[in-house]
Amino acid sequence: MAIIFEGNMFHLTTAHTLYQMGIDAFGILHHLWYGEKTDCSMQYLYNYPDVGFSGNPYEAGKLRTYSMDTLPLEYATVGNGDYRIPAAAAVHADGSCALDLRYESHKIYEGKYAIEGLPAVYADDSQAQTLEIRMRDAASGLVAVLRYGVLEASDVITRSVVFENEGAEALTLTKAHSVCLPLMDGTWDWLHFHGRHTMERQVERKELFHGIQQIGSTRGTSSHQQNPALILCEQGCTETSGLCIGAALMYSGSFQAQIEVDQLGQARMVMGIHPDQFSWKLERGARFSTPEVILSCSTQGLERLSQQFHAVIRNHVCRGSYQLSSRPVLINNWEATYFDFNEEKIFSIAKQASELGIDLMVLDDGWFGKRDDDCSGLGDWTVNEQKLKGGLAALVEKINALGMRFGLWFEPEMVSEDSDLYRAHPDWAIRIPDRDPVRSRYQLVLDLSREDVREYLYGSISSLLRENHIEYVKWDMNRSICDWNTETLPSTRQRELPHRYVLGLYELLERLTQEFPDVLFEGCSGGGGRFDAGMLYYCPQIWCSDDTDAHERTFIQYGTSFFYPVSTVGSHVSAVPNHQTGRTTSLETRGTVAMAGSFGYELDLNLLSEDEKQTVSEQVEHYRQLQSLIYNGSYHRLSDPYADGMAAWSFVSEDQACVLVQGVIYRAVPNALRRRLRLRGLHAQAHYRISGEEQVYSGSALMAGGVLLPRVMGDDVSFELYLELVKKA
Ligand code: GLA
Repeated sequence: MAIIFEGNMFHLTTAHTLYQMGIDAFGILHHLWYGEKTDCSMQYLYNYPDVGFSGNPYEAGKLRTYSMDTLPLEYATVGNGDYRIPAAAAVHADGSCALDLRYESHKIYEGKYAIEGLPAVYADDSQAQTLEIRMRDAASGLVAVLRYGVLEASDVITRSVVFENEGAEALTLTKAHSVCLPLMDGTWDWLHFHGRHTMERQVERKELFHGIQQIGSTRGTSSHQQNPALILCEQGCTETSGLCIGAALMYSGSFQAQIEVDQLGQARMVMGIHPDQFSWKLERGARFSTPEVILSCSTQGLERLSQQFHAVIRNHVCRGSYQLSSRPVLINNWEATYFDFNEEKIFSIAKQASELGIDLMVLDDGWFGKRDDDCSGLGDWTVNEQKLKGGLAALVEKINALGMRFGLWFEPEMVSEDSDLYRAHPDWAIRIPDRDPVRSRYQLVLDLSREDVREYLYGSISSLLRENHIEYVKWDMNRSICDWNTETLPSTRQRELPHRYVLGLYELLERLTQEFPDVLFEGCSGGGGRFDAGMLYYCPQIWCSDDTDAHERTFIQYGTSFFYPVSTVGSHVSAVPNHQTGRTTSLETRGTVAMAGSFGYELDLNLLSEDEKQTVSEQVEHYRQLQSLIYNGSYHRLSDPYADGMAAWSFVSEDQACVLVQGVIYRAVPNALRRRLRLRGLHAQAHYRISGEEQVYSGSALMAGGVLLPRVMGDDVSFELYLELVKKA
């Protein structure tokens, strides 16, 4: 039993961790523990003095040491004497704001709860149990059902909250976070993943300080600037040792995560929809569900934590025909042609690609409407026959005849002012009457909270998919959203729009992915601007970054690897000098880096020399042979690219028999010793042979002493070692 209720305590156990809560005499739910498994109540660790200016609930009488301001509250709210960051806040009909949630009842059942209209971790009854704790604010009748999904074997606990208004009057939620997680002390570090367009998920690790530290996005998407995921870890926690807790929000809209270290040095983390752009009116009897947060805890450092997230995202978040299967090696024409192409050009790229063994031709932006640059055309999802003479179906047929599959780019959520769609439905764009809208890449955003907009998009996309043999869709989204306003809501409820937009997006994606289960959907937002567990529920891979420079990509992919499995990371070999950085790296290095993901090309292969073409065809073949190991093996970060002057990672098969080590050494150094790289995850007592060498090494030696990396000449030189187990002890 993963969930046990005993003596007013909840014990949520996973393979290696324990999550513990207790209900006190006043019905307050305390968070007692999340960490290493123990076999008793951790209540004994909590002791509170009488802290001045920390008030006491009325019924505590003379018990001045009992304060909401100091207790480790499992789900903190405003207005009840707790002055720290709340997880939830509401405004009642009378204008008051207090919320005081007390335990009412609970239930435990087999299986994992689902969330209406939102993506959520899924698992069958043998893999998960659910705990629902009903908490009630007696004065208003607002109920918060705290939901916990425990995936025991995966070391994962999910959290979500359902608010139900059982009171006599409507109220408005002004903050409704998905998780609140107290930590007994604040002497921790936290890692978050910041960046910008073409430079996503850079890793920053900081000590917690007294007060509030926070990350978030108010862009309507999860954003390039901050990823909706963070790690709290003990100071000194490394890849292989120490306690750490990860939290990934399964949401693709504006989000916030806050951590506060309070006056007693205790910490609290909350995470959910960004409250600056949110309020939600709850009529009598209405419900509101928050998105889900995936929590996981490792007592053995960051690598184990990442592996736990990789497994849960791959096995319990991603869906569809491509969830666990291999993916086609693709060629995308964007960096090869930008908007300047016709059917002959596309066919010539496809033809050359097919000769080199590539599986799928993706036609990117510019095939539709009037779209010769990024000023016009978005919204008009009909083929531009001036560019593609003979139409789309004819091109697809010709490409299929090469033995290649065909994929198409869409940016469904957008509209150009210079488009037939905008001329017909200017009211479909999100904008505030009497104000000029903010443009970004010359485009406006469609109001996905509107059913007629979703219906139009469903109709346009689904008929293209039905009428043409399209086996892949790239779902792009190329701006941040502001000017929030919709005709579908009264003025008092406009702040619901950012969340309703995301709900509309998910509804549309659900409809299309369910109707076309065999189409591979790849998410994208100017690269990785919406790289989150929410999108991964619909798209098993996401274009990781518009930066295709192999050197920069090692940092981006390093940051991405803390939460997201390599199968989700779209990664391409592109031309040099690189279009984003001007850097020139070798074809080998570009291949090695792109292979640590869902692999493809993005250049005009016709421009390569015969030798380079040969290399491409070998890379494609090589990737096919390794893809199962890359997708299914355990992923190990073997270096810190920020500190070690190189990127190095490895994949180890489940039976520890095959090991692929890859990486890039950033700078050649004259007259230096060969670098050593310690491996991980091998069978210590087994013996391994490195492909191409005679000598056999023990697993323990390879992990303690390492392998010697090649001496390199030049910068950004990649290496690859393949090891096979030859003998078990
Ligand atoms: C975004 C994507 C690119 C490409 C362009 C097309 O930037 O990330 O891969 O599709 O849009 O406009």
